[in-house]
Amino acid sequence: MVSQIKSRFPIFQQHPGLVYLDNAATTHRPQAVIDAITNFYVADNSNIHRGMYELSANATTAYENTRRKTAAFLESDNPGTIAFTTGTTESINIVARSFVEKRLHPGDNIVITMMEHHANFIPWQMLAKARSAELRIVPINEKGDLDLREFGKLLDAKTKIVACTHISNTLGTVNDIAKIVDAAHKKDIPVLVDAAQSAALYALNVRELPYDFLAFSGHKMFGPFGTGVLYTADKYVADILPYNFGGGIIQDVTLEDTIFKKYPYHLDAGTPNVSGVMGLGAAIDFIKGMDTKQAMDHVNDLTTYCREQLLKIDEVKLVGWPKSQGGIISFLVRDIHPHDVASFLDKDHIAVRAGMHCTQPLLAFLETPATVRVSFSIYNQRADVDHLCDALRGLIKFWS
Ligand SMILES: Cc1ncc(COP(=O)(O)O)c(C=O)c1O
Repeated sequence: MVSQIKSRFPIFQQHPGLVYLDNAATTHRPQAVIDAITNFYVADNSNIHRGMYELSANATTAYENTRRKTAAFLESDNPGTIAFTTGTTESINIVARSFVEKRLHPGDNIVITMMEHHANFIPWQMLAKARSAELRIVPINEKGDLDLREFGKLLDAKTKIVACTHISNTLGTVNDIAKIVDAAHKKDIPVLVDAAQSAALYALNVRELPYDFLAFSGHKMFGPFGTGVLYTADKYVADILPYNFGGGIIQDVTLEDTIFKKYPYHLDAGTPNVSGVMGLGAAIDFIKGMDTKQAMDHVNDLTTYCREQLLKIDEVKLVGWPKSQGGIISFLVRDIHPHDVASFLDKDHIAVRAGMHCTQPLLAFLETPATVRVSFSIYNQRADVDHLCDALRGLIKFWS
């Protein structure tokens, strides 16, 4: 399966020796996604929602069809729940500023977790400060699992939102989102799930699990940079205010006032990333065309195999050992700075990430300034793990 899938990603033909283990930062794009973007420019290029001519009408139809496709991807039968954004970061900022801000009063609180990416941390921290509200942080244990008992205790009548990542981009922890949503909903608290690391392979089924807000990025699920999704549950769509002001989002403008379109159209101020959305649609088709169960089993197998192989190297210390770990592993190599480890691996064409992975509060808790992180996708193989471990052994020898 892997070699067949890998052959659909042209980057690996350009760089046959590449061992790409930085999929949590961005995945590669299959030819079908690249073609969808190119074909749009070649055959259909025009602006949407404005032109009274065939090309523009076709582009508008294709754009709105992708909205339908994205809704269906999440098992929602309402395309009106889907807003296109520039990525997870923008989706979260929209919920913070357009939904939570007006409901948040002094003394209220926002609940997030210790393992959030800065994208799901700073917007809430800034909002809490601005509104004299409290930012409550769900603790984790030393293995990297959320303390769900403590989570339950943090929720009360003044909690205005829970914002939690599905998968930690640093530790790989797969959080029990069903439990989190259930506990929050029992108290009528809306939940935002940061699905940046899960949207590519995990079924995000809004019928099975009533998410209130889902945020994810195209580029982490084989789609283009600069594309993202905000899903908002039907019950909240009317509560989302416009976020940026400008053309394309209005029903009526007078000298005195403006009446806006409804969600999600009032979030599209200015010209949207039309070609990007075409690419995102192709990425969804690509994912739907895969056996996602097999793909997930494959990534889980690589995670387990990599953990086992890394543990055989005495000088390697794993950072985090969560109960359920989804395709992402952090580690340290002796006292060698993670940046030096990554540079050394790069000489062998092994691409890993080193640093704090935009999770500085988490790393402060773990008392380490940085880690080396490897992250897998569908085109990785056990041989990639073997290359990594051989290179690490070489580094340790070189360093002693
Ligand atoms: C868990 C998580 N949330 C949010 C983000 C931000 O995504 P983007 O930069 O695409 O907006 C990332 C990016 O790495 C992430 O891993």
